[in-house]
Amino acid sequence: MADMTLKKKRMDREGYRQQLRLEEEKLHLAAADPRRLTYHLEPPVGWLNDPNGLCQKDGVYHIYHQYVPFYPELCSVLWGHVTTKDFIHYEVQEPAIYPDTDWDQNGAYSGCTFQEKGTMYVYYTGNVRHADRDYDYITEGREQNTILTTSEDGFHFTPKQLLMRNEDYPPDLSLHVRDPKVFRENGRYYMIQGARDLDARGSILLFESEDLIHWTYRLRFTTKTPFGYMWECPNYLKVGDRRFLIACPQEYRQTKGGIVKDNWCGYFPLEYDFDGGTEYELLEYRTLDQGFDFYAPQVFQDESGRWLLLGWMSTPDADYDCEMTVENGWVHAMTAPRELYVNEAGRLCQRPMKELEGMRREIARGPAQGFQKAVSACFELKVFLDMPKQPFELLLRESAVLSYRDGVLSLDLTGCGAGRTVKSVELSKVRDLWILSDTSSMEIFVNGGEETFTSRIYDSMKDLKVKFSSGQRGGRVELYELIV
Ligand code: FRU
Repeated sequence: MADMTLKKKRMDREGYRQQLRLEEEKLHLAAADPRRLTYHLEPPVGWLNDPNGLCQKDGVYHIYHQYVPFYPELCSVLWGHVTTKDFIHYEVQEPAIYPDTDWDQNGAYSGCTFQEKGTMYVYYTGNVRHADRDYDYITEGREQNTILTTSEDGFHFTPKQLLMRNEDYPPDLSLHVRDPKVFRENGRYYMIQGARDLDARGSILLFESEDLIHWTYRLRFTTKTPFGYMWECPNYLKVGDRRFLIACPQEYRQTKGGIVKDNWCGYFPLEYDFDGGTEYELLEYRTLDQGFDFYAPQVFQDESGRWLLLGWMSTPDADYDCEMTVENGWVHAMTAPRELYVNEAGRLCQRPMKELEGMRREIARGPAQGFQKAVSACFELKVFLDMPKQPFELLLRESAVLSYRDGVLSLDLTGCGAGRTVKSVELSKVRDLWILSDTSSMEIFVNGGEETFTSRIYDSMKDLKVKFSSGQRGGRVELYELIV
């Protein structure tokens, strides 16, 4: 039986350790689940959501994340901590940040790290929900505190400092302001935060600082017409001379050519010089992932200068089952790590991080037409198509079907259980496909990663195969088993 005191607001290190001892059998239960992923980051027990504070320090990648360790027993969310050197082998560390102060007692919400002269600055949102009466928690009853703690090694943290409270945000905002991300541009420090205003319009707030501690509000990035009521988890990146803002606009749905898309996570090319002016332009929004399970990604630049991305491989409020493994004591995972680049058309593209090639054992390579092979659940398939406008059908695993016809690429998971159906994207060509399959996930990168489909998949994991059929000749495939 879980300790009911956890249902109270706070959770500190001692409470966590105690509870972990009590729930040790859940660790074994989780570890024995055949749906445990093999090369993806997942919680040893409990619930994981957004990646937080992604960085590389002295060669080691630190991945913090939203974590409810004893889910479905509830406690306020804390920051789990995992380290890796290669994104194939992960070491689970003791959680890094606990909701143990008055400023964050209902959750150490999402945030980032920023390194300066060897010190890691950690910014996050301290969530507080007042419980003395019924509030709507939109205009009343909630505190969204911007909190700073620092670390010299990524494991030990200084006492928390309160940097901003509700009254430090613009007055026309609701009490939904969160998920700080800090970066440097033109020699200055900037912080962006996701926000919802009193008219339920989403935006990204921009703050500026000279010392990483005192922050001044400068402006907000938003669209000319309303676009989702709250923009969660904003990110900023500059690749070459192109700038992008990433956000998760809640409740934005788009219908295009009869295809309904839940565009809950995407990016805008940004035109803004970070010169102190207030003029900016957000160019055409594009969805970052077309699959069923992708949300709250975070990007960061590693020590070699690569822009990398990890996302939460799930979706909030889905009408299909995202909690298939709860009965085994754990739920959710991160996407595979992806490297970002900008293609000739100016699109932000994702491809699996190079390090993942270390898992490959070649099974086959050859002509695409008629290709068929039995596989285990953990495989990588690359398909190169010479006639990119020709229709094709690719059977993956047990009954997942990726098909291309009439300019629409569709992923059909109807036969795979858990309520996922069909997701589609319009594409004038399909030149290449790059697929990463793990026990219970599948990530598909299309046309050099211009489009991706990320999904959990809950088939039987038995008698799996890949089978490619199309009218076209030419084209080739490479198939690898992935072994950790
Ligand atoms: C996105 C999110 C963030 C928040 C965190 C709380 O999934 O809602 O906006 O900080 O999760 O766990």
